[in-house]
Formats: sequence, structure tokens, C-alpha cells
Amino acid sequence: MLHIENLYASYGGIKALQGVSIDVEAHEIVAVLGSNGAGKSTLLKTISSMVRKNSGSITFEGKALPAEPFHVVERGVVHVPEGRQIFADLTVYQNLMIGAFLRKDHKGIQEDLEKVYTLFPRLKEREKQYGGLLSGGEQQMLAISRGLMARPKLMMLDEPSLGLAPIIVNQIFDILREINQSGTAILIVEQNAYKALAISHRAYLMTTGRIQKSGSSKDLLAGENIEKLYLGGTN
Ligand SMILES: Nc1ncnc2c1ncn2[C@@H]1O[C@H](COP(=O)(O)OP(=O)(O)O)[C@@H](O)[C@H]1O
Ligand SMILES: [Mg+2]
Repeated sequence: MLHIENLYASYGGIKALQGVSIDVEAHEIVAVLGSNGAGKSTLLKTISSMVRKNSGSITFEGKALPAEPFHVVERGVVHVPEGRQIFADLTVYQNLMIGAFLRKDHKGIQEDLEKVYTLFPRLKEREKQYGGLLSGGEQQMLAISRGLMARPKLMMLDEPSLGLAPIIVNQIFDILREINQSGTAILIVEQNAYKALAISHRAYLMTTGRIQKSGSSKDLLAGENIEKLYLGGTN
């Protein structure tokens, strides 16, 4: 579904991606793991066209992804950014509607709203509350739900566990699995390697702009030097 070959990206002189190749098949959950500064966020930003690539190719369903971020969303690729980035001065409902801003199928939007409220009943309870008043966990739920409102084929998540209590992380990861089982492919980048390996089918380990290792998540979890490689969360 998503095919990335030999991708390079940089910020001025800083080489953030140095020949990254990854694939995500439809219906898969794929994790990209790596410590702070490895290039994980840059990879997602390059896919969603928020950062321009220097070279390499990114194709989705056999065609190159467009250069404008909102056109990427139109192709069915949604980015749930690091740090949630929800609108503090808008209500939960208004934040969700922003996720649907490119759509005109009112009936479908209504259906998807019901779906996210079923996945996250807390958001329904807080429908009229301002985004800025939500807890960190609720904000992450809102960020994921806003992404779902675009009805994505591929959802990309940047460190959804960051700063959240383990119990909330578990809830959110359970729901990501549910979202995947209902037909959405997921590309997740995480420092919390154990959690990400537990829900993903395959994973890539990234260090300083390069893929160092890849394999089935089961095999990687069983690997002996795994703690050394992962550097991030331990629970
Ligand atoms: N906006 C930016 N300007 C300059 N350098 C950046 C910027 N964003 C990231 N970098 C650098 O690019 C490298 C990769 O960063 P990033 O993709 O954020 O890594 P990760 O998400 O794995 O922590 C790091 O060296 C980081 O300092
Ligand atoms: Mg990052």
C-alpha cells in the first residue's frame, strides 16, 4: 500500500533521513522504533508532505503522493502528529469536524462521528468542552478521532504514548488495534518499543536516519539485545 524507497530528507545541513526504505501493506500495523533524534517524526512528515524530500520515492497505492499536505489527506493518508496538536479554543466536536473538512458526504461524516464516539465514549461526554480543558489522554483520543474523521486508508501516528500514564496507553493501543481490525492500515512511530511491538505486525528499527533492522514484531520482541536497541519506554 505504502512503498518508500531510498528516502532522503534534511533540514539545512542536518541529514535527518539517509536512505530510508519501508513498506506498509493494507491492513497491517507497522511500527518504526528509535530513540530521540533518529528521524521518526521526519519520516512521517515527509510522507505527509510537511517536509520536502531531497530524493527517493514515496508511493501510495501505486502512485506518488502529492506535494500538498491536504492532497495527501485526500488520498487517504492521515497524520496524527506528535504532541496531539488539537485546537485548545475549539470544542471537542469542532476539533472532530476539522478532521472531516475535505469531505462533503454529510451522512458518512455523521456515521463516522457516531463511530468515534463509540470508540471513545469520553469524547461524546465532553463534546461541548474546549479541547484545551481535556486531559493528556483525552487529547490523544481526540487527535486520533480527528484523524479518523477523514476516513483514512492509512493512519500514521507519531508517539501516541508520549507523556501518558500506562493505563491510558493500554486503552489507546487497544483502540488502535480495533481501528486496524476494521480495515485501516497503521504506521506508528514510537520510543515505547515494547508497546509498539506488542500491537504491530512488523517493525523497523531506526537510528540516525537509517533503518538498522526490520522484521516481524514477534521476532524482534524475542530478540536478545532488544533492550539495548530500544532505548525508549520499558513498559
Ligand atoms: N525543524 C527542524 N529543524 C532542524 N533540525 C530538525 C528539525 N526537526 C528535526 N530536526 C533534526 O532532525 C533529526 C531527526 O529529528 P526527528 O525526525 O524529530 O527525530 P525523532 O522523531 O526520531 O525524535 C534530529 O537531528 C533533529 O534534531
Ligand atoms: Mg519525533
